[in-house]
Amino acid sequence: MEYRSLGGTGLQVSALGFGCGAVGGLLVKGEYPAMRGAVERALELGINYFDTASMYGSGQSEANLGAVLRELGAPVLVATKVFLAPPDFDQLGARVVAHAEASLRRLGRDCVDLLYFHNFLGVQRHKTQAGISDLEPVLRALEKLRQQGKARYLGFNGLGDTGAVHQGLDLGGFEALQTCYNLLNPTGGRPAPAGFPFQDYGQLIDRAAGQGKGVVAIRVLAGGALSGSAERHPVAAASVGPISTSADFAADVDRAGRFSFLVEEGHAGSLAEAAVRFALGKEGLSSVLVGISSIEQLEAAAQAQALGPLPPAALGRLEEVWKRP
Ligand SMILES: NC(=O)c1ccc[n+]([C@@H]2O[C@H](COP(=O)([O-])OP(=O)(O)OC[C@H]3O[C@@H](n4cnc5c(N)ncnc54)[C@H](OP(=O)(O)O)[C@@H]3O)[C@@H](O)[C@H]2O)c1
Repeated sequence: MEYRSLGGTGLQVSALGFGCGAVGGLLVKGEYPAMRGAVERALELGINYFDTASMYGSGQSEANLGAVLRELGAPVLVATKVFLAPPDFDQLGARVVAHAEASLRRLGRDCVDLLYFHNFLGVQRHKTQAGISDLEPVLRALEKLRQQGKARYLGFNGLGDTGAVHQGLDLGGFEALQTCYNLLNPTGGRPAPAGFPFQDYGQLIDRAAGQGKGVVAIRVLAGGALSGSAERHPVAAASVGPISTSADFAADVDRAGRFSFLVEEGHAGSLAEAAVRFALGKEGLSSVLVGISSIEQLEAAAQAQALGPLPPAALGRLEEVWKRP
């Protein structure tokens, strides 16, 4: 396993991180032995970064991850996230603290290595996910938690309005962020071609890395669409709402077909492998998360990591695909 610096934190994180979200679903809906087996295998593979959140299965992912890590006694890096719903907004600081403390209780830990603010910035994604424009009061509350020894480093979600996300970066105070980066929408890490149909992240990854922030990639497989198949694993979320790509998952799966040449021309063994290798090749990313439904998917991600980035010939062909409307 390759290890990379998480910005200026001094932490070394595995290039491949274990996504404990609801899309992959193993740490939310899996049977306990399957969860334990996958985490144990991840540790053998050298993965040291586990990403959860209070939102994943309404706390179930945190509780499951905490139980498995306690049983395995594993000294890994754990990240979780605070999410605020509209009723929290009137007492924002107190609610940030209360939500973080509830996460620590579920995880069974006194401290997490990384505590992210989970809300989208600036926009309302849908009625249950209000966007937040002013990060300052959130940052103050997170700082308080850090002073109390409950979080080592702080991060925010590089999702929402591009302008608001870049402003979040300029606020300082946060050491890390998460953001989307995948074959369907690579604008976090390269200029958007003219007429690009999805959100333009304005090379957020490059800007953040240039400021010494740790950047963690999410949705590297576009929630599974970049497997090229619309079929969902039994423990996976039954439906996936795309982030910064097509209007619906079926359209993302359809668009993923544009990248099948990577397999047909022998650059990668499968589209999922190509997607993981594409993200791993992005300079400035500290860790690439993969949502896991099964131990087989974990093994596949680790094999992709071992193969290294996509070759330059493949990357050259990608430029042509991104320019197509
Ligand atoms: N900060 C945020 O707001 C945010 C948002 C999203 C995600 N995240 C984090 O990022 C992590 C990863 O994101 P994600 O789960 O949303 O999406 P993802 O990693 O893009 O997609 C995960 C899906 O890809 C499919 N997959 C994985 N390996 C595969 C393989 N070898 N072959 C075929 N298909 C494969 C699986 O689909 P099937 O299950 O259908 O097989 C899995 O559910 C999450 O667990 C979470 O920790 C953070």
